[in-house]
Amino acid sequence: MDGRELVRSMKVVGSVRGLRAVRSAWRQRRTDARELAPRGPERARVPGPVTGAEPLPGGGTVRFARAELHVCVMVGGAVFWGWDGAEPLPSYALADVPPEPDPRAGLEPDKDGGWRVVSERVTVAVSRNGGVEVRTPGGVVLRRELPPRWWEPVAGGPARWVQRTEVSADARFFGLGGRGSGPRLRDGTYRLWNTDPGGGFGPGDDPLYVTMPVQLVVADAGTHLAFHDNSWDGRVTLREGEEGAGSGHDRPGTSELRMDGGPLRCWVVTGTPARVLHSWTALSGAPVPPPSWALGPQHARWGFGSAREVRRVVAGYRERGLPLSALHLDIDHYDAHQVFTVDRERFPDLPGLAEELRADGIRLVSIVDPAVKAERGNAVYESGRAVGPAGAFVRDGRGREVLGVVWPGECVYPDFTDPAVRDWWGGLYEERLAQGFAGVWHDMNEPVSFAPFGDTTLPRSARHQLEGRGGDHREAHNVYGLTMARAGYEGLRRLRPDERPFLFSRSGWAGMQRYGGTWSGDVSTGWPGLRASLSLVLGLGLCGVPYSGPDVGGFDGSPTPELFLRWFQLGAYLPLFRTHAAIDAGRREPWEFGPEVLEHARAALSGRERLRPYFMTLAQLARLTGAPYVRPVWWGAPEDRALRDCEDEFLLGDALLVAPVLERGTDRRAVRLPRGRWYDTATEKAYEGPGQVLLDAPRSRIPVLARAGAVIPVRGEDGRPELEAWAPAAGRAGGGLVVRDPGDGPREAEVERYTSRLMNGEVRVERVTDEGAVEPEWPVRVRGR
Ligand code: NOJ
Repeated sequence: MDGRELVRSMKVVGSVRGLRAVRSAWRQRRTDARELAPRGPERARVPGPVTGAEPLPGGGTVRFARAELHVCVMVGGAVFWGWDGAEPLPSYALADVPPEPDPRAGLEPDKDGGWRVVSERVTVAVSRNGGVEVRTPGGVVLRRELPPRWWEPVAGGPARWVQRTEVSADARFFGLGGRGSGPRLRDGTYRLWNTDPGGGFGPGDDPLYVTMPVQLVVADAGTHLAFHDNSWDGRVTLREGEEGAGSGHDRPGTSELRMDGGPLRCWVVTGTPARVLHSWTALSGAPVPPPSWALGPQHARWGFGSAREVRRVVAGYRERGLPLSALHLDIDHYDAHQVFTVDRERFPDLPGLAEELRADGIRLVSIVDPAVKAERGNAVYESGRAVGPAGAFVRDGRGREVLGVVWPGECVYPDFTDPAVRDWWGGLYEERLAQGFAGVWHDMNEPVSFAPFGDTTLPRSARHQLEGRGGDHREAHNVYGLTMARAGYEGLRRLRPDERPFLFSRSGWAGMQRYGGTWSGDVSTGWPGLRASLSLVLGLGLCGVPYSGPDVGGFDGSPTPELFLRWFQLGAYLPLFRTHAAIDAGRREPWEFGPEVLEHARAALSGRERLRPYFMTLAQLARLTGAPYVRPVWWGAPEDRALRDCEDEFLLGDALLVAPVLERGTDRRAVRLPRGRWYDTATEKAYEGPGQVLLDAPRSRIPVLARAGAVIPVRGEDGRPELEAWAPAAGRAGGGLVVRDPGDGPREAEVERYTSRLMNGEVRVERVTDEGAVEPEWPVRVRGR
């Protein structure tokens, strides 16, 4: 038992729930011991020497003495390879059928007995012993995979494998899902197993709720993303390279992926960061834009406890003139913590409350936990048991429902890898809609079962349907949250075809952006937690999941007024802007920290409201292009090494650069600027990049800069939309894209393109249309002159 486990066991033991959890942890151990045969002796295997090849559209099959590799370049330039018969499908990550093989690309002999596929965007070279290189059209190596190695149990069963990779000495690693310690992933081992860290986590805690084998690599030679499509438990060990390491030679960066089972197949997409994310979301799915209200300020708490308290908090916002878009109800509004129920004593008329809030422009959002209390007579449990021939819940190898322990006590877990179960579960959201909820917040879906020792999830031997293929929790665990999100999203779509669902989920996997967003989970209150919040959002965005945000103020304890304020100021520029805290934590309403914090929080809120049209534009552009709203500062200039290492600021779309305060007692901070002119939006003073400047960061605000020439849609003081145009530098032009909310119906969003330039000393903004340049429909406010 390690230290973390010991603390966990002390927290859990001593309550009724604790005793149940102890029992359940023992049961889990026993079940796994009974049903998962020990691996026993294993046989190691490497591909061995090449023996032949067979061309196929887009590439072909290369045969080795002891393995076989299928390589294919797709239309659009994505590269796929799979060992020993692994094909792109079936896959939980891919949105749809994969793209077609590129008919112009084919397998041809390479030097030294290897083979290669040459295409317009990328060359893939397979060495004679099974190494795979991805090269730019100019021949520069972006990624070199060494021949893999498998360990196969002699008695049969899943093969473990390892894949070592080299990247250039200057490369930096990002991604792997939501990591607290990023965004640049330093040397170390990162686990691929979605995990509730059990209480407040900080930058050192790994893994967290959303892991995925998606790795973004940025190097001088180019950017690429590699996705090993395999949901099993695994570990990635990263080591950055070193230039001129020994006797002047570069030491390459290395990544070593060790998986406990599952196929060895990989996708690689290359290009600029924007192109890479575009290609990646073309494969794994377009990020769904949230409804427009979900881009406004939201407030949550575990433990509002009653309708009266909800009204009190909402009145607090109203009386102080603070905008609020949504209020979230946590598990305390359930009847005895049971999903799809309401405590009618404390919330006697939830639909009425929802209507009342709605009249004030505030939506209600409901938490939804997957675990269902295992009790005869419980309506959700009974209806789940009636699904299909075997019921909806995960079973063990003997066919018995697997029991875990969560908030309501002993629980069962829907098997969301079964389409019939997803259907049934999606239908249950009707109850939430009838209660007046406008959106859902999926929680505890790693999935969690409380345990004082061992894994806090289901036994690895638990059986899952896996779309009819059948398998166990070792394969299904990491896609549990993803498939639950699919069930919820599709259910909501069916129930309210005219509304864009609002869904965000604590756990997930590659492709989760097709159904919604995510959030930080229980980030711990403290300056390190604040920093981790930004890492998570940036890292997830680079994995294709652009809508996320932290618990502003941190989940546990009480932030100091200064920390709360700085968190709030950061949160105001992140896609999901939500205050939230634990049941025993201090308050998080902005007025609870004294008049100074209230005034500055008010400014942050009104800044957010002003940017709402810009956030809508970014949400729609994320859908169309995969570009996250929140981007690392190297997004447009990955070759700039100083930007690559800059982790404490970010770009919000193309136009803004946000430099949050992440340290105590700061009133000035260094800001690294990409190339070009940037205006401090508070003072309108211009700065020239690339380089570093020192900017004021008083309590009242964090530095936010606007790119010269940018045209940004904002909400004017009268509430009407307008265009904010930042003066281009002399001799330069600028512009921006605007996408208005197309509404919830099937109408496609239209992208409006604007240009800006200086004419006789005046800033001129025009809209570019098929018929030529026209005057913008919205008023233009020029800034920076
Ligand atoms: C854990 C979640 O991360 C947190 O946000 C929530 O408040 C609690 N579960 C209670 O539902």
